[in-house]
Amino acid sequence: MRIGVPTEIKSNEFRVGLVPGSVRELVARGHEVVVQSGAGNGIFADDATYEKAGARIMPNAEAVFAQSEMIVKVKEPQAVEYRRLKPHQILFTYLHLAPDPEQALGLMASGATAIAYETVTDPAGGLPLLAPMSEVAGRLAIEAAAMALRRPTGGRGVLMGGVPGVRPARVVVLGGGVVGTHAARMAVGLGAEVAILDRSLPRLRQLDELFGGRVRTLASTMDSVEMEILTADVVIGAVLVAGASAPKLVTRDMLRHMKRGAVLVDVSIDQGGCFATSRPTTHADPTFEVDGIIHYCVANMPGAVPVTSAQALNNATLPFVIKLADKGLAAFDRDPHLAAGLNVRDGRIMHSSVAASLGFDGSQTKTVRVAAE
Ligand SMILES: NC(=O)c1ccc[n+]([C@@H]2O[C@H](COP(=O)([O-])OP(=O)(O)OC[C@H]3O[C@@H](n4cnc5c(N)ncnc54)[C@H](O)[C@@H]3O)[C@@H](O)[C@H]2O)c1
Repeated sequence: MRIGVPTEIKSNEFRVGLVPGSVRELVARGHEVVVQSGAGNGIFADDATYEKAGARIMPNAEAVFAQSEMIVKVKEPQAVEYRRLKPHQILFTYLHLAPDPEQALGLMASGATAIAYETVTDPAGGLPLLAPMSEVAGRLAIEAAAMALRRPTGGRGVLMGGVPGVRPARVVVLGGGVVGTHAARMAVGLGAEVAILDRSLPRLRQLDELFGGRVRTLASTMDSVEMEILTADVVIGAVLVAGASAPKLVTRDMLRHMKRGAVLVDVSIDQGGCFATSRPTTHADPTFEVDGIIHYCVANMPGAVPVTSAQALNNATLPFVIKLADKGLAAFDRDPHLAAGLNVRDGRIMHSSVAASLGFDGSQTKTVRVAAE
């Protein structure tokens, strides 16, 4: 199959759909890979590196889209991109269609097959192509918190790990899933005192085993959240209720009772945030203060470390890219987890909850398609 990798055009996106190592794997299996010139600049992989891995370099995105049977990207296609898609093509990338009817209509109108990283599943019921970015965001959350805790940036002036004779920072992690576990791991590594709160008792048992008693685990209730944040230097918001907005676990009123200069890192901001006072921020201006509490609410945290993030993403996506390249659309018949990633095909939304979120049923999709064309 001929696979195309265009340069990401969404602002501040430095990752790339395939890193050179993935290109080499695909080429070794007899596939062709075409890469837009400069697509790897954000991760310091130049055209010569891609050529060495076996790719052909194309001068622009038009050429990549025109020549490829499958396009592998990172971010959802922008309007100029989905207008280039043709019915025989496969698009494999993050889509996040549910809140984005314009993109949904554009993909439906293209007739292409669009597979969303975020809805591909694994046998354990997880989302294997979301997990790597949660791992990155969880680890980064503690780096961000450590920076924000410094006095010159408005923070409380506490060193994460303390020093002998001085108490370390108290870090409270709300939600002990992928983000929360990786945040806790980093905080423990720096020597902080760590508590993890989760609603799931089985998950708390796993975390207790995993950390060998090095973190406190607590059932998440209104009482326990309120108690823990009173003495926290850092609170990491890492809750997720699948398919719903994040629950607001910390109200504005609670901020008044927290330590001045404490730091809230709301990783769940992409689902609306779990602190009532959160609003999305960017890497250019990541923090703001409310009632003396520093808030860090960057919605695309992995974007700050594209070299790590692109490789982590490729580690997870490559097996699926290979399946699609080897078998084409027949790959869906053999792999129900990849099939769960199918969002758009033949002008229709194929994923039931995405369709429901967009307010489409079977007949509505058809009506909308005609309107889009
Ligand atoms: N900002 C970013 O750049 C970025 C990057 C990656 C992930 N995220 C977001 O981070 C959030 C967490 O992702 P994840 O992969 O860790 O999810 P996950 O499903 O692995 O973990 C979520 C955890 O939250 C727990 N939970 C749910 N309700 C709770 C409550 N009321 N109190 C305490 N715990 C509760 C669940 O039991 C689960 O263990 C998601 O919203 C995800 O989209 C953001």
